[in-house]
Amino acid sequence: MPETVLETQALTMRFGGVVANENVDLKLQTRELRCLIGPNGAGKSTFFKCVTGLLTPSEGHVFMRGQEVTGWLPHQIAALGVGIKTQTPNVLDALTVHENIWLAARRFFDMAEAKDRTDATIDRLALNSIAKTDLGQLAHGERQRVELGLVAVAEPWLVLLDEPAAGMSAKDVERMTEIIHELTRTSAVVIVEHDMQFIRSIAETVTVFHQGRVLMEDHVDRVMSDETVRNVYLGKKA
Ligand SMILES: Nc1ncnc2c1ncn2[C@@H]1O[C@H](COP(=O)(O)OP(=O)(O)O)[C@@H](O)[C@H]1O
Ligand SMILES: [Mg+2]
Repeated sequence: MPETVLETQALTMRFGGVVANENVDLKLQTRELRCLIGPNGAGKSTFFKCVTGLLTPSEGHVFMRGQEVTGWLPHQIAALGVGIKTQTPNVLDALTVHENIWLAARRFFDMAEAKDRTDATIDRLALNSIAKTDLGQLAHGERQRVELGLVAVAEPWLVLLDEPAAGMSAKDVERMTEIIHELTRTSAVVIVEHDMQFIRSIAETVTVFHQGRVLMEDHVDRVMSDETVRNVYLGKKA
């Protein structure tokens, strides 16, 4: 039976007089993949921060698997089994890919289990050819894949990603898409993104933010062809 893994109820976030999110209701089921899109200033990052615990919403509620987590800190949310990839990751350039992923695994598992999970994650994310390379020597797209590995190794049931395709080549974006689909075999995934090519390639349900509110929520094809969405977003960006 599908379970609601993430739910926000009337989430509102104000910064002084600026209403960055207003009455956002969002629901995500087990292994669902959801993209949050919208023009600059629409409130995507604020929403991401409210859900991951970097901000406490001014009003409203956040639930994960039925547990209220409003106001929890990021490490408390992570401890529930939620993987969070922000744009400022915790990686060590002087260590190899394998070592970095192993360190992430050790935060959750004992030595033997961490080793097994590290090896499995390296296979799963197709990182074998660079496993022994120092992180500092990797190209941007490879780094992004490794950072996803740090999240995936804990085998989270919910993964929250902030612009995972930012600054990537077309080839890297394609790989990232494959990896994200792979993650949805075991986890629900929320992606905040404004790269339209990436969203198209993912081809799933999209929630469009506009002026802090949810403007539309539908399959990417219908969202892309919606005139209101085109006006507020595609019209300006494309
Ligand atoms: N820390 C902050 N202090 C004041 N205003 C903020 C802060 N963070 C975001 N905002 C404002 O909230 C609105 C939504 O911003 P943001 O969530 O970053 O949008 P997006 O990620 O969709 O571009 C914008 O008007 C932005 O200027
Ligand atoms: Mg943003």
